[in-house]
Amino acid sequence: MSVRERNIGSNGDDGVSIASSNSKVGLKKRVGLVAGISLIVGTMIGSGIFISPKGVTRGSGSVGLSLISWSICGIISMFGALSLAELGTMIPKSGCEYAYLLECYGGKEKYRSIGRIPAFLFNWVSMLLIKPSSIAIISLTCAEYVMVPFFDDGCGEPPTPNKKIMAALVIILLTAVNCFSVKLAARIQVVFTVAKLIAIAVIIIGGIVRLGQGQTAILATGFTGTNKQVGKIAIGIYNGMWAYDGWNNLNYVTEEIINPNVNLPRSILIGIPLVTVCYLLVNISYFTVMTPAQLLDSTAVAIDFLKTFEGEIRYKMVLISLLIAASAFGSINGSMFAAGRLFYVAGREGHMVEVMGMVHVKRNTPIPSLVFVSFIALLMIIPADIESLIDFFNFSAWIFYGLTMSALIVMRFTRKNEPRPYKVPIIIPIIVLIASCYLVVAPIIDDPRMEFLYASIFIVGGLFFYFPLVYFHKIPPFMATVTAYLQLFFEIISPEAEAN
Ligand code: ARG
Repeated sequence: MSVRERNIGSNGDDGVSIASSNSKVGLKKRVGLVAGISLIVGTMIGSGIFISPKGVTRGSGSVGLSLISWSICGIISMFGALSLAELGTMIPKSGCEYAYLLECYGGKEKYRSIGRIPAFLFNWVSMLLIKPSSIAIISLTCAEYVMVPFFDDGCGEPPTPNKKIMAALVIILLTAVNCFSVKLAARIQVVFTVAKLIAIAVIIIGGIVRLGQGQTAILATGFTGTNKQVGKIAIGIYNGMWAYDGWNNLNYVTEEIINPNVNLPRSILIGIPLVTVCYLLVNISYFTVMTPAQLLDSTAVAIDFLKTFEGEIRYKMVLISLLIAASAFGSINGSMFAAGRLFYVAGREGHMVEVMGMVHVKRNTPIPSLVFVSFIALLMIIPADIESLIDFFNFSAWIFYGLTMSALIVMRFTRKNEPRPYKVPIIIPIIVLIASCYLVVAPIIDDPRMEFLYASIFIVGGLFFYFPLVYFHKIPPFMATVTAYLQLFFEIISPEAEAN
């Protein structure tokens, strides 16, 4: 049996298998509406709602503007995802941004080599920045919430080195799980999605109790204290976008969606408003007991919120911290999962060093790319400043989200007559494109730090690899030996090679 055939057989119930998307025999379509919605919701709700209320609050300055900022983030995500629904139903390929950039700009034979650069760079940046930084951020939050209940003697938070070690352990554990079994990783995803919904529900119920007790004074302050600087407000929204990230996640598995023309848009139309409503309600809950200033002072907002229930549900504090840690844990798992799939799709286009596109002979897991991404994530934990990591992430991710929107707009002209089972009004991708330009540029203007320069160098630096390795196919001779050693060490093989 070829690796490819085994891949198909290895699909988990929810249809999440790394290698099946490349099947000649036919793709196992297993992601239905419920799985689709949970792929979106399970990734979007991770760490952000439990940490970035601070970022949004700092930017807005008032309760009223905070809630508006969270709604704007929801609308931008919704518009972005609706645009992806058009792209995903028009180009039914897995790999999301990568696939659309490749189709739009790399399709024409004449400009093929140059046109494939944006997709190549997206994959490159995903490997070096986007995926590792998201894993690093979420694992730091996970570590924080795992440890807070044990260090919280009322006067402190877990020491930073302990947090970093815990975050590193979480990454290593999940890398091992993802290398070990696709099925196990898929199960973990489902279980932990439930955990995060419980965490959200507990906070919302807490808020309802407080509202029932008539605690509306802080909410009633409305727009008092509102920040007047537009730049600062934008930074708040920028921070909020982190909490919403993951709205694009279903498009990474388009090839496995059952009836994608219906289920892709429908999952988006249900999943994203659901998350938006959850986030607004959670924020309202926080504001029933915490002023914007108290929120900014808190290192673990959700816990501080529940602490106000002293005597009533304090014993549930440990439980809620563990639920939030579980939410983050599930998100890291989901990020690793999607990363593996993206690299696999890029591998079949020859956009990856051969070894990176390989999977374990028996387990069908993309061990080299998982190990690589986790290694970079571990490096990012060392300086471990969550806010600058979020900047890194947002900056590089939004450049490519914007480019993807441009692909939609361009194809409205270059492929006018192609069937579009789901079509958005053109103004929607235009709004997201403008928002993405703003999200990339605003933080640089606000605080021109070296991080942005490093990130830009990383992005452009991909070209140094594109031209020799992909364009001219000049692979250094020692690579064959290195590849052979790695193949033996990890027991990996290229599914392409095996199937042909
Ligand atoms: N929104 C998630 C959070 O708040 C982060 C998602 C990271 N992005 C991703 N595609 N995995 O933690």
